[in-house]
Amino acid sequence: MLPRFSHGRYQAQRLIGKGGMSSVYLCLDTQTNKRVAVKMFDQRGATSDKLLRRFEQEIVALQQVSHPYIVPLLDYHLDAQQSYLVMPYFESGSVSDRLAQTLYSPQESATLLTQVAFALDYAHSQGYFHTDLKASNLLLDREGRAYLSDFGLATSIAARSSISGEGDIFGTPPYMAPELFKGAPPSARSEVYALVIILYELLCGHRPFAAGDVVVLLNLHRLAKPPALHELNPAVPSALSPVLLKGLSKTPFERPASVGELAQHFSWAVSQLPTILQQSRAPICPRPDLPVVAERETDTEMLAAKVLSRSASGQNPSKPSSASESDPAVPALKKGLNTAEIVLVGLALMVVVTLLLILSRR
Ligand SMILES: Nc1ncnc2c1ncn2[C@@H]1O[C@H](COP(=O)(O)OP(=O)(O)OP(=O)(O)O)[C@@H](O)[C@H]1O
Ligand SMILES: [Mg+2]
Repeated sequence: MLPRFSHGRYQAQRLIGKGGMSSVYLCLDTQTNKRVAVKMFDQRGATSDKLLRRFEQEIVALQQVSHPYIVPLLDYHLDAQQSYLVMPYFESGSVSDRLAQTLYSPQESATLLTQVAFALDYAHSQGYFHTDLKASNLLLDREGRAYLSDFGLATSIAARSSISGEGDIFGTPPYMAPELFKGAPPSARSEVYALVIILYELLCGHRPFAAGDVVVLLNLHRLAKPPALHELNPAVPSALSPVLLKGLSKTPFERPASVGELAQHFSWAVSQLPTILQQSRAPICPRPDLPVVAERETDTEMLAAKVLSRSASGQNPSKPSSASESDPAVPALKKGLNTAEIVLVGLALMVVVTLLLILSRR
């Protein structure tokens, strides 16, 4: 059943999609007679203060960050019964909707990145970080231009310390830079990292790191060497990989300092390709099974995290599921068993030698 919005100004026509804690509806604004999108937050029972605070942050941030490539806030309503934001409706949907149909060519990716960089560099200069950059938060107009939506987790550095408290973790795990998992504040360089993950999706259809459970994913971001683009999709020109790999550096200071700088480097790499390669889109292909190489010797830590998360999800830690067989924790598990086997063989040999000595003395 479609919701009724307070005061009856916005008439819901259909559900567009659902996010982690919200549903977006196509509505008719009866005052302007225009179509709008209303993002209604899930509010079952009493509304938590935390949700209302998050909403407030979104509203404050949206009102202060005004840019042609940032989706504007048209109206909002916030109370214990019903909370929603009203924004323009984008009939072409999001980049994630488009990626379900076709990938982006290198040239299209460079154009999109430049548009996004334009908006993000501006927001960063105002002290605001998006902190939830992902394909579903890039909305498209009819010409395919991308607009940033959901500064929902965005927060100025000042607001962050006073409202949220230091140490809070913001973002969506598949796009989060390693330092964010440790509670570091968002920065232009953590936004660069998220955008590189989006670039992987645009060009080859896969994110560099994939794992069923969050702890494994976290460790991949922190420790694993990312695969090059063409390892995930051989049709993507390998010459683009160095720029992207630099943007995924584990150390923030090794990444480009701003999204604009990333866009410049990427556009330059694209311009060096033969025209045919600049314009061709790779076909969508299944994700290959790649070995993931850990950069530092932290197998034990990774294994511990894996076992912890398995027991939390009710799985038997000693029996990995088939879905996790390709993840990096499994070689670590095998390494542990090999050591145990060596010890057992050693003990068995000692017993045999002792028996032989006893027998030979008789
Ligand atoms: N203004 C809009 N016009 C058209 N479609 C929209 C609009 N805003 C959001 N959508 C679509 O609605 C869907 C749900 O959006 P929503 O923001 O609730 O979730 P999300 O972006 O997937 O995740 P999150 O809750 O973390 O932001 C998205 O897939 C998006 O494509
Ligand atoms: Mg969204």
